[in-house]
Amino acid sequence: WSDPIKLTNVSDQLSIHVFILKNHFPTELLLTVSPSWLSAAASVTLTCSVTDQSAGWRFYWYNTVPDPSNNYYSYELLPGSSSGTEQDFYIVHGQTHTAGYMCRAEREDPVFYSDSRPKLVWSAGQSVSISSLTVSPDRAQHFTSDSVSLSCEGNSAEWRVKKLSTEDRYLSDCSFSGTMTGSTCKLNSSWASEAVYWCESGSGEFSNAVNISVQDGDVILLSPARPVTEGDSVSLSCKLKSQTFTSTVFFYHNEKLIQNDSRQEFKISAVSKSDEGFYKCQHSGQESAKSWMSVQGE
Ligand SMILES: *[C@@H]1O[C@H](CO)[C@@H](O)[C@H](O)[C@H]1NC(C)=O
Ligand SMILES: *[C@@H]1O[C@H](CO)[C@@H](O)[C@H](O)[C@H]1NC(C)=O
Repeated sequence: WSDPIKLTNVSDQLSIHVFILKNHFPTELLLTVSPSWLSAAASVTLTCSVTDQSAGWRFYWYNTVPDPSNNYYSYELLPGSSSGTEQDFYIVHGQTHTAGYMCRAEREDPVFYSDSRPKLVWSAGQSVSISSLTVSPDRAQHFTSDSVSLSCEGNSAEWRVKKLSTEDRYLSDCSFSGTMTGSTCKLNSSWASEAVYWCESGSGEFSNAVNISVQDGDVILLSPARPVTEGDSVSLSCKLKSQTFTSTVFFYHNEKLIQNDSRQEFKISAVSKSDEGFYKCQHSGQESAKSWMSVQGE
């Protein structure tokens, strides 16, 4: 710690105004987005729940547009909702890439409106995104001692790496959990975490999103962070932090045992849709976290 802050020549005219706003908030809005992960093009249902259930609400639906320069979103009305809708849901058809939404509920008597927090729907694919996020090393699980970088690529000079923690649903950006240099976020992974990461560009775009899990245990599963394509060969391995392999290594797909011998690797020569799901491995009584492997069509 440096010296305590010293205030000199403080004017005795200094006055501080504290405003306490005693507004009555008759309602709160909760926006839910379903599904939360897109598989190919999908219809996304937005539902705006109002705690005050009385009639007379009109709902307005917005797209969120990232603005990394000030860390806020701007909002654009979705088609057909310029005069609001009576129903509290809205369906977006053919959504193919990561996007954010917001809803507003408005009433006339008494005049009042309220905005929801922004909610995202994530796409894991890269095919249709102009911007993309890559993970290095390219895997879903990492030890706290690993050095993990997340890089944004695409048509922009300005990027922000965003994080939504699975545990507390807390939305933050790279500066809270790492260091951003240019378009790369180097995670400071000294503690365990599980989160979704994606990039937001200065030109208002969202990238694909990835699940990253940082583990402080002794065993991790090495599985692809990005979706694999049908027909690809895929190898999943079990990795130990400190020990060497001494006994059987167990691999599980959706909790079903798929391999138990001395191999530290589970190989799929041509991956198919049925290989999608959660994988984990186990060695000497210690188990890795599970990770979702996503398989996309050719
Ligand atoms: C990310 O994790 C969630 C929950 O574990 C899962 O439902 C989702 O499919 C995963 N997405 C990808 C692309 O792995
Ligand atoms: C990472 O986080 C730890 C714990 O907060 C801190 O002590 C360390 O200085 C950080 N490292 C970097 C490179 O920011």
